[in-house]
Amino acid sequence: MSGTLLFFDDERAVAEPLAALCALSACCIARHRFPDGELKLTLPAPLPERVVVLRSLDQPNEKLVELLLAARTARALRARDLTLVAPYLAYMRQDIAFHPGEAVSQRVIGGFLASLFDAVITVDPHLHRVATLAEAIPLAAPSRALVVSAAPLLADLIAQKRPGALLVGPDEESAQWIAQAAARHGFDHAVCRKIRSGDRAVQVELPAVNVTGRDVVILDDMASTGRTVARATEALLARGAARVDVAVTHALFADDALAVMRAAGVGEIWSTDCVAHATNAVAMAPALAAALASLRRSS
Ligand code: R5P
Repeated sequence: MSGTLLFFDDERAVAEPLAALCALSACCIARHRFPDGELKLTLPAPLPERVVVLRSLDQPNEKLVELLLAARTARALRARDLTLVAPYLAYMRQDIAFHPGEAVSQRVIGGFLASLFDAVITVDPHLHRVATLAEAIPLAAPSRALVVSAAPLLADLIAQKRPGALLVGPDEESAQWIAQAAARHGFDHAVCRKIRSGDRAVQVELPAVNVTGRDVVILDDMASTGRTVARATEALLARGAARVDVAVTHALFADDALAVMRAAGVGEIWSTDCVAHATNAVAMAPALAAALASLRRSS
């Protein structure tokens, strides 16, 4: 074994195949919650020099404390090459202060992760006003901030399930994933315009494209409240689409998101296992293992 992959019990389903693909030993971090809510973590000791920590950062707040405790403890146990694999990377959307006094969460959380880890791998991070993951997470070695894209894998699934589908991105930011997926299978594609006026208040304007009778698949990096997908679906069905299915990398699906999307007329929903959910249809372990291997080759 060339190192250890540390994981938490709720991510065993991704951790064990990933460790096996990378020839890492997989060790679960034991977690104890004290009556007052504080956490105690216990890592396996001793640790090898190379340690990978797997933690997807949906529902991120407590997980960020776990990462602080785990990474600092791993260093104390003499881990020298510490990589975070965070299939979903939280707090990337707040990348500027829209109003005076607002925290620029991307900068704060990105700086925090850079202070803990030597390398970071994530999947389809929501980077809008910054071009690269290294800008969001300023690691000592910027080349060690790696992005894996799920778009080609979701495209393969769509090609199998809905050959000839029209791919639709629900907003301008989705254009990058639409372009990758369309290039891979030659899908027709289009991107909508979105106006968000609140957490759950979203308007979506369709582009000038004929959707009548078409199988449409909405592709995006994430659905959170599901309102973006719901409004796009309603507009597509109203314009004559035969059916609308959805493929997303990150199934955040907060509160009533699933019900809202279904009520809007969404058919199938497919997601990757970056965030564990009943809709998971694409396993990311092979792509994450390839990214870990490329880090290893370059170190
Ligand atoms: C933002 O632009 C993202 O790509 C998603 O479109 C957005 O986060 C979805 O949010 P919601 O599901 O809350 O509408």
